[in-house]
Amino acid sequence: MGSRVAALVPAAGQGARMGTEVPKQFLTLGGAPLLVHALRILGAADVVTEIILVVPKADYGYCQQELLPSLGLEKPIKVVMGGARRQDSVRLGLQAVSPDMDFVLVHDAARPFVTVEMVEQAVDAAKVHGASIVAIPMRDTVKRVTPDAVIQSTLDREGLWLAQTPQVFRIGLLVEAHQKGEKDGVEATDDAFLVERLGYRVWVVPGSLENIKITKPEDRLMGEAILAARANRMSI
Ligand code: C5P
Repeated sequence: MGSRVAALVPAAGQGARMGTEVPKQFLTLGGAPLLVHALRILGAADVVTEIILVVPKADYGYCQQELLPSLGLEKPIKVVMGGARRQDSVRLGLQAVSPDMDFVLVHDAARPFVTVEMVEQAVDAAKVHGASIVAIPMRDTVKRVTPDAVIQSTLDREGLWLAQTPQVFRIGLLVEAHQKGEKDGVEATDDAFLVERLGYRVWVVPGSLENIKITKPEDRLMGEAILAARANRMSI
């Protein structure tokens, strides 16, 4: 059948850009810690079999003993301690994936507005092609700018997309990609890059403008606005 999916959720960043004491994934959005939103969606998506949550060492006990029990998710969930970089956290999370899984879906805890539909579409594409990511086309004009704020060049935005998560891969492919990336000393800000550089084709499925990553304080304001709009059944 080949369709058992582990959802791996990197939530082990320190959130330095947020400028708060508490890592951003534990700051509240709509009254719940940020990471809870994505966990609830992954918990509700029937295509997801198990969840691996990767958290900072310092928050392991809180997540294991308080946060997760309070959510009452009805599928197996493991908590893993993360590493220094996102790619280290994903690699450590991969080691905790159950051996009978066929696919891994990686989804950043910092993207609370993922939907069940997005998860299903990404998984469906990965089942056909082996690797898929959610992304949206660039709508703005893109400039390359020097550190002292002078435009160097204007990129042709035709064919430029912004990568989001979820990103879904056949498990063996993602494990191989991370091992090779580690061996070659490659820095990666997403998982697809590690797979692309092995020469595999990664397919893109439509994400959404609402699927933002909460990185800076102003993103939380945007997040609250999206929640409010959803509560009113509007879209932003
Ligand atoms: O830093 P960035 O915004 O790219 O982080 C994306 C996701 O990766 C966040 O959910 C963050 O918590 C996670 N991360 C991690 N381990 C790190 C750094 C980031 O799990 N060392």
